[in-house]
Amino acid sequence: MKIRPIVAVALSLCVAKGLIAQDVDHASLPQASVPDWPDWAYGYMEPVTETDPSIYQVPDCPEMANPRSCGPVGTPLVEDGVKHSLPGTSLTFTRVEANYSWQPADWYPGEHPEMSELIATGDMERGIRPCALCHFPNGQGKVENGHVAGLPKNYILQQLEAFASGDRISADYRKANTNEMARIAAWLTDEEKEHVAEYFSSMPFRSMVRVVESETAPQIRASLNRLIMADEEAPWVPLENRIVEVAEDAEETEVMRNPRGTFVAYVPVGSIAKGEELVTTGGGKTIQCGICHGDGQRGLADVPSIAGRTASFTMRQLWDVKQGTRVSPLMTAVVANLTAEDMLNIVAYLATLPP
Ligand code: HEC
Ligand code: HEC
Repeated sequence: MKIRPIVAVALSLCVAKGLIAQDVDHASLPQASVPDWPDWAYGYMEPVTETDPSIYQVPDCPEMANPRSCGPVGTPLVEDGVKHSLPGTSLTFTRVEANYSWQPADWYPGEHPEMSELIATGDMERGIRPCALCHFPNGQGKVENGHVAGLPKNYILQQLEAFASGDRISADYRKANTNEMARIAAWLTDEEKEHVAEYFSSMPFRSMVRVVESETAPQIRASLNRLIMADEEAPWVPLENRIVEVAEDAEETEVMRNPRGTFVAYVPVGSIAKGEELVTTGGGKTIQCGICHGDGQRGLADVPSIAGRTASFTMRQLWDVKQGTRVSPLMTAVVANLTAEDMLNIVAYLATLPP
């Protein structure tokens, strides 16, 4: 299915209005029928099933102050009173403090401009959780959301418009955080959009992923829109045709929310060279990315950098464009003839590039 699915439009309208989507016909979702759907990029181990809950259950949880304590997925954090620290800061937070939805830990206040309330604590009245919760105060973000530091200001503004209008939603019906992002964008005023775009575009994006070609990978499980290591002691399993991308230090990055946290992406053997060929020559299937994305794919004018972002994030963008849930006239031609495997190779290569 190449056109934007009607169900996706309906869902996005619900997002913008803050309604709860109750009746979803799972069989009509493209992800139920499109082959090679890259569930790994969306943070799932399995394809969508009839029993998958509505994506709106997490944000609509009554204890929204800390969805970890009531959401249908994830393990609730229990306040144990134990203060933790991170390298290079004198600040300390308990796990629950670090993850408080309406004021998550700001470990390194000196490494970013002063945050407004909207960015640091959000607006509880309007249900807008703070940008820093998902993108971190320094805009680096994580595998399951986006990397907003250093993006061109106009590009950020365009994307906030796209989210708000329904032109950008996740191809994966289950991905609650992207749909929350869309809802937030719909609720921001023009002045607020201008302000957040200015803030995140003013900071540099730093390298955050190490790419390793491998036959095997750690065992993983799905949690809160991302894949995490199931058990560090567990034997590695065949990687097969996917990318396994996890935090280098799960406790620091996933639990304590270290905004300097880094990831490792295990990619199939040979994928980086195949991706390089497609990106730099088009390989007869696509258009050389550098024509628009610039030298080293580090961005050109308002076209964003695609270098050194996490592989899962980049895969979702290509796949969303291919499925039509992310509207992008220029990128539609780029992905038209690419298979899921081509895209996997491309994102493996792009993740190796210095930002
Ligand atoms: C609940 C988590 C969450 C919050 C809060 C949030 N975002 Fe996002 N944001 C996301 C997710 C998830 C994505 C990427 C989705 C995807 O994979 O396409 C995203 C993507 C973006 C993008 C697009 C990045 C790109 O490279 O295309 C921008 C810009 C952005 N967010 C800005 C903001 C701003 C500004 C705020 C605060 C007003 C904010 N976000 C709050 C989750 C969040
Ligand atoms: C003809 C110009 C053009 C070419 C060629 C092009 N892109 Fe893009 N790309 C864009 C534009 C413009 C955007 C910003 C979104 C928009 O405006 O639709 C974008 C956005 C993206 C994004 C989303 C980035 C983000 O932060 O969300 C990814 C990923 C991407 N392109 C990858 C690629 C890859 C990989 C190639 C080569 C195979 C490529 N692009 C070739 C113009 C192009």
